[in-house]
Amino acid sequence: MGTYDNNGKPNVMTAAYGGICCAKPPCINVCLRKATYSHGNIMEKKAYTVSIASEKYVAEVDYFGMASGRDVDKFEKTGLTPTRSELVDAPYIEEFPVIVECKVVEIFELGMHTMFVGEVMDVKSDEDVLHEKTKMPAMESIKPLIFDIGTRSYLGVGDSLGRAYNIGKSLMEG
Ligand SMILES: Cc1cc2nc3c(=O)[nH]c(=O)nc-3n(C[C@H](O)[C@H](O)[C@H](O)COP(=O)(O)O)c2cc1C
Repeated sequence: MGTYDNNGKPNVMTAAYGGICCAKPPCINVCLRKATYSHGNIMEKKAYTVSIASEKYVAEVDYFGMASGRDVDKFEKTGLTPTRSELVDAPYIEEFPVIVECKVVEIFELGMHTMFVGEVMDVKSDEDVLHEKTKMPAMESIKPLIFDIGTRSYLGVGDSLGRAYNIGKSLMEG
């Protein structure tokens, strides 16, 4: 996820804790420890972006989750491009296929993590990851990473196992 610090320096960190939390208005959340540089940035700017990585960026993603923007410029180090969102005060990663731009609408102090609920102001997708029929970003084209917390490893997405709201229909009868 991408943020700016007070000097306008773009930063990015890897976040596994988070997800979709409201459909209307569309909202997603990310959960950050106070120790991260990104945490302070979001508190200040009340904005963040989520850039969905594809498999080929696995090393960069891992690096973004170890180095801190407090000490280094992670964009400079990886050669990836920070692009300023036109809608929120945060940068996104130009090279990543799907971008979600968020304005913070709620902050929950939960304990070790702070949950930032962001209203989605826009979603930007590369044309070539859009599904032929639905025109929605498709997992099989994005090739996003899955973080397995139990084995501390990154996995790819597997094959489709069936259509949602459909494959369970037989169990609804009777
Ligand atoms: C796979 C992975 C997932 C992570 N998920 C989270 C997370 O959800 N929340 C969090 O606070 N830190 C998480 N981290 C750790 C931060 O990314 C890490 O502390 C990072 O250095 C913070 O960067 P910053 O100081 O530039 O903000 C994760 C790290 C990895 C490698």
